[in-house]
Amino acid sequence: MKKIISLKVDKQFEDSLSKNHPWIFSKKFANFKIRLKLSSVIQFLSKKSRFLAYGIFCGKDKLVSVRVLPFGQNFTRLQFLDFLISRFEERISLLEHTDSLRLLHGENDGLPGLTLDYHAGTLMFRCYDESLLLYVRFVSRAVFEVLNTRKDLHLLANNILLMNPRRTSNSSGNYKKEIRVLRGSLPETILIRYRDLKYSIRPGQQKGGIYNDIRNLRDFISENPNLYTGKSVLNLFSNNGLLSELFLQNGAESVHSIEDSQECIEVHKKNLKNPEKSIIQKLDIFRNYQKFSQEAQKKYDWIIIDPPSLTASGKDVHRAKVIYKKLIEISLGILSEEGILVVCSCSNRIHRNEFENIVGKAFSENAVNMKRIARLSPEIDHPVIREFPEGDYFKVLIYQRL
Ligand SMILES: C[S@@+](CC[C@H](N)C(=O)[O-])C[C@H]1O[C@@H](n2cnc3c(N)ncnc32)[C@H](O)[C@@H]1O
Repeated sequence: MKKIISLKVDKQFEDSLSKNHPWIFSKKFANFKIRLKLSSVIQFLSKKSRFLAYGIFCGKDKLVSVRVLPFGQNFTRLQFLDFLISRFEERISLLEHTDSLRLLHGENDGLPGLTLDYHAGTLMFRCYDESLLLYVRFVSRAVFEVLNTRKDLHLLANNILLMNPRRTSNSSGNYKKEIRVLRGSLPETILIRYRDLKYSIRPGQQKGGIYNDIRNLRDFISENPNLYTGKSVLNLFSNNGLLSELFLQNGAESVHSIEDSQECIEVHKKNLKNPEKSIIQKLDIFRNYQKFSQEAQKKYDWIIIDPPSLTASGKDVHRAKVIYKKLIEISLGILSEEGILVVCSCSNRIHRNEFENIVGKAFSENAVNMKRIARLSPEIDHPVIREFPEGDYFKVLIYQRL
């Protein structure tokens, strides 16, 4: 760790630190006229030199200038290893059904700015800022030590990878340059397990090759085949196709998957087990869904809408609401009688209640009678904490047409 810089703060700042929010925004930090190097560890002290918190400096020009660590003044390495073990133990029950899960979920797990995903023996760290790289390396060494000594956790650390924080969404074609190998090697593909399904993912793709926050919907589908046996499914924003393949494995008559990323489509095609029941289409849904629905030859018994996050900043919220509503309205036009509509949102700037209002408005304005049959809770490897409302981002609502 770098030299620790002490910073005395006033009562107002002390009060805001006591709320345990893991971010100090640049607006607030601008008042300190101190020069700091990126990655510096700051020790916040009260006016009377009482220890308040540690933080990592990420830059005055960043939205978040400091990420606050949840450790007390005299925390030891052993305490940190115990902290990691407790996080891993919370998730162990997931291993019954899968070997692909999130081991550390950033702020929501007390480790601001970093996530750690586990895929069948490969660990993938991701951090959100260059200034956090040193801290990620510290965490990665501790994780390796824990997994090496606690074999009873049944988590292997064959490969440890770190995704470049500067990675842009369109750089996935060149993914080898985007990933640093901290230990082992970089596998081209990884075969993961979800219930009876073996699925090949590519660690260089979006979310390290698989979205696991949506496991709650995967579970719902796996556990309710009676709701779709012999029925047709339209899976919008299908990514690597795992949801589509689950439907088919459990008795759906056909699945039409739509996705715009060619890379994701290729992964989906490699995993196809029922090609005669599958259509995989490359389409920009935001631009062309209306036309698709007008030309559709049939109605679908299930439609899933799971777009990417639509609110990169606060300015996008209004536009995002319009887009969600439009996607739902178009879907209602091609949803069969008694059909099931699944609407998901990973836009963290749209609160759960607000999202339900958008969905309700789309139904009422189109005079469609829909009953909510499920509202899925976050997965245990994607916990949500009260102190960090920004981390409560993923919503899954399931409705049936009456
Ligand atoms: C939240 S993910 C969906 C995850 C998916 N439901 C699953 O089960 O893994 C959003 C997906 O939308 C795709 N996407 C982004 N923009 C798109 C567009 N304009 N048209 C179609 N797909 C798009 C992304 O490539 C990504 O795979």
